Amino acid sequence: MARILITSALPYINGVKHLGNLIGSQLPADLFARYNRGRGNEVMFICATDEHGTPAELAAAKAGQPVAEYCAELHDVQADIAKRFGLSFDYFGRSSSPQNHRLTQHLAAKLAENGLIEEVSEKQVYSIDDGRFLPDRYIEGTCPNCGHEGARGDQCDECTKQLSPTDLIDPYSTVSGSKNLEVRETKHLFLRQSKLRDVLDEWISSKTDWPILTTSIAKKWLHDGDGLRDRGITRDLDWGVPVPGMEGKVFYVWFDAPIEYIGATAEWAEANGLDDAAWERWWRTDKGADDVRYVQFMGKDNVPFHTLSFPATIMGSGEPWKLVDYIKSFNYLNYDGGQFSTSKGRGVFMDQALSILPSDYWRWWLLSHAPENSDAEFTWENFQASVNKDLADVLGNFASRVTKFCRSKFGEVVPDGGTYGPEEQALIDTLDKRIKAYNTHMDDMEVRKAASELRAIWVAGNEYLQAAAPWAKFKDDPDAAAAVIRLSLNLIRLYAVLSAPFIPDASAALLKAMNTDDDSWPDDVTQALETLPAGHTFTVPEVTFAKITDDQREEWQEKFAGKRE
Ligand code: MF3
Ligand code: ZN
Repeated sequence: MARILITSALPYINGVKHLGNLIGSQLPADLFARYNRGRGNEVMFICATDEHGTPAELAAAKAGQPVAEYCAELHDVQADIAKRFGLSFDYFGRSSSPQNHRLTQHLAAKLAENGLIEEVSEKQVYSIDDGRFLPDRYIEGTCPNCGHEGARGDQCDECTKQLSPTDLIDPYSTVSGSKNLEVRETKHLFLRQSKLRDVLDEWISSKTDWPILTTSIAKKWLHDGDGLRDRGITRDLDWGVPVPGMEGKVFYVWFDAPIEYIGATAEWAEANGLDDAAWERWWRTDKGADDVRYVQFMGKDNVPFHTLSFPATIMGSGEPWKLVDYIKSFNYLNYDGGQFSTSKGRGVFMDQALSILPSDYWRWWLLSHAPENSDAEFTWENFQASVNKDLADVLGNFASRVTKFCRSKFGEVVPDGGTYGPEEQALIDTLDKRIKAYNTHMDDMEVRKAASELRAIWVAGNEYLQAAAPWAKFKDDPDAAAAVIRLSLNLIRLYAVLSAPFIPDASAALLKAMNTDDDSWPDDVTQALETLPAGHTFTVPEVTFAKITDDQREEWQEKFAGKRE
């Protein structure tokens, strides 16, 4: 049994996430977590809300709430939606937790001890009209790297370059819009990550199995960018992890957020009444984590922080913390001819999605169209076509035809009689090959390839049933029809097991209809198809997947074209 630590990039606290955010980290991470649990591995799947920094403060100000209250409320909202989407976190923490405060201050102290933190007098943008310094997102302007207008003070969304507020061309305050800005001196802590360039370079170069998307971004910032420039890790804000000895300053959100991966695991231990050893065995290589495989999921804009800044924190501490073993990163999902946008309210948001269809419909489409090798696009036509074809016509129809036919001819019980012949053997051989391929793609986190393989596994059953035609056989040779149905009922159970990582609710419903809780991952297909013996009772499942009509599609297209309130 392997031990797998899985983290998903932490969603910003500022509002419900859209489907583009979901497929960029949390959903594929959940797929991998569920698959590994299904295979019998010990999994720790961690996520949390990313609550500090200017995005949180700005959103709270907009909502007219104190920031702590706003974050507590939005955390619960996000936790609830995550649950309804079937995201099976072992713990969904908060970066504002006491655990994260302690760990962040601890790691900063270690970095200081090792000579990697420097106090510098920094020039910062001060807004005369707002009467305050303008860190990060309180300031926008033109990206000096690519010319994108509306680049933020911390990063340009267009070219992913990490920025400092003073880098921006033609800057303005996002608090007031004022351009009445000046540069003033203030003291800040800088992380001297440039000193770690060689160790980071060596570490990244050793990761030859990482996806190109991950290593290309990492190497770009390591070599020709100034991604490893020493960077300010403190800000003039009230909300955040306080910097000991520096009144009015907190750590930069990107410094404390990844530390919350560890923090949330400590929160998990506390919530379950466990001691420190329980979470340390996932995170400390001197305390049992040396045999853990640690996999991170994230969108491509997060890669520089996870390949350079966070490892710099971990390595620079000189303590035996677990470093990531594999980073799975994603491109962007676009929405109907443009981008999903939180600020513009464009696209489908997680709560809206669930208000029109159950989560499995979304999970299937999103995962089977994951933006792995390039950006992908959500269109309502494509969504309707995939749901209707893959889920309704193939999987749902198979389950419904088999169970209904059985009920009418043999009753709601697995029929006895008949034997398996060459058609059945051919199906078993196909399934055997395809399940092996499916396992490999899942192990490799090749999400789209795994989805196509699963679809092919469903199709194989349908084609078998179509050719075996038990409805035609029944009249002259009921035993032959019984054998086909016995195999097919077992196939429904097998489909439920294999499909659970993608569509957990439908899988659970199918297992329940098959009246079994045997959800063991198939090793041997022949054996797996003998799980439900003759005489075992079942019920006809409720409609597993309903088709999306043209009317519905048009209505939704219309409804989500406008701005989210
Ligand atoms: N909140 C960030 C985003 O949505 C991701 C933070 S990941 C973490 O882009 F590791 F820093 F927490
Ligand atoms: Zn740019």
